[in-house]
Parts: sequence; C-alpha cells; structure tokens
Amino acid sequence: MTASAPPLVVAVDGPAAAGKGTLARRLAAALGLPYLDTGLLYRATGRRVLDGAADPRDPAAAEAAARALTPADLARTDLRGPEADLAASAVAAIPAVRAALLDWQRAFGRRHGAVLDGRDIGTVVFPEAPVKLFVTASAGERARRRFLELQARGAAADPAQVLAELLARDEQDSRRAVAPLVPAADAAVLDTTELDAEAAFAAAMALVRERLGDT
Ligand code: DC
Repeated sequence: MTASAPPLVVAVDGPAAAGKGTLARRLAAALGLPYLDTGLLYRATGRRVLDGAADPRDPAAAEAAARALTPADLARTDLRGPEADLAASAVAAIPAVRAALLDWQRAFGRRHGAVLDGRDIGTVVFPEAPVKLFVTASAGERARRRFLELQARGAAADPAQVLAELLARDEQDSRRAVAPLVPAADAAVLDTTELDAEAAFAAAMALVRERLGDT
C-alpha cells in the first residue's frame, strides 16, 4: 500500500448467526485493523427505545434513541437475546435510524481503516470497499449455532423457536425498503455451512488476499 492509498476497509455482511462476528474479529486481528460490529449500534438503539417504554417500530422514538447513543450504550450487557434481537431488527428498518448511524460508521472506517460487519456495509456504508465478503450458511446450521451459543450462555432455548425467530429476523432484514440484506454485486460469497471457524477464517483470508491482488 502506498502512503496516499486510503486505509483498508473490509466489509463483512450476511444474515444473522452466519459466523460474521467471529470471522470479522479474526480478520481484523490478522490484518492489524480496528473492528466494528455495526449490529451493536442497532441493538443499542433498540435497547434505548425499550428502556423508554416506546415501540421500536416508532420512527420518532427510534431516531431519537439512535441520535442519543453513547459509547456506554454499546458496552451494555443486555444487547443480546430474543427481545434485543427483534428490537434491533425493528429499528434497523427505519430510514432515519440508518441515516443517523451512517456518518459514525463511515468516520470509524476512514480513521484507520477497519473490518466492519453488518448487513449493508458493502452496499451502503462502504460501497467503495476493496474487499467485501458476504458470509452465509443454511438457516438450519445458523439456528444450530445460535442455539449452542444461547445454551453456552445458560439461556433457556428451544431449537424450533430459535429457528423461527432467526427466519423472522432474516425476513424483516431482507424485505425492508432501505439498505436491505443483499450481497453487494462485487462481494465474494462465503458459505460456511460446512466450515468450522478455522476453515472459514482460512477461506476468508484467501479471498482477502485475492481481492488485494496479494496471492
Ligand atoms: O448482526 P446483528 O445480528 O447483531 O444485527 C442486529 C440487527 O441489526 C439485525 O437484525 C439487522 C440490523 N443491522 C442492520 O440492519 N445493518 C447493519 N449494518 C447491522 C445490523
């Protein structure tokens, strides 16, 4: 990379529980880049709306919550679980919420480069990113992983319900009018259904090197 090249941005998008977070975090460490889990911004926004006893589908309440986010909101420990999942997905469908969070995400990536994971990083937040991965896996496998994750955290979970909630969220994230979950035209699709975390990381690194012309 020459001194004048913009800092490297790697976009990692995909549906819920496809393994994006684990993968993006490892890529960031391997590439020496900061990492941002953009889902946390939507989760923290949804949580703030719930705190105010408002409906996460209420555009005014959700936009106000997004504009009021502080770093402490992102460090909350109650941003995961079915209630937080659905609230996040609901606020994420509101255009004013997405607009409120856009500049912040761009500023984060532009400062030192970054690996960002989310749903619209390669399509909307950084359409010019030189490396875009769309990480996916079958719905059954994603539900299995989410179930194991919930179990490991000691949360009671029913496999059928986990699958139903995952499908409902995918549907909401994919059908919304603004920045829906869809692979960027120039994204490399990585299906991790048959891959463990190690194999997914190796495959992702190979794609990154290929994109950077560094094979
Ligand atoms: O990645 P996650 O499951 O933590 O994301 C939580 C919700 O936020 C998800 O339902 C979709 C939404 N989201 C989004 O719309 N755009 C992003 N860049 C990241 C997440």
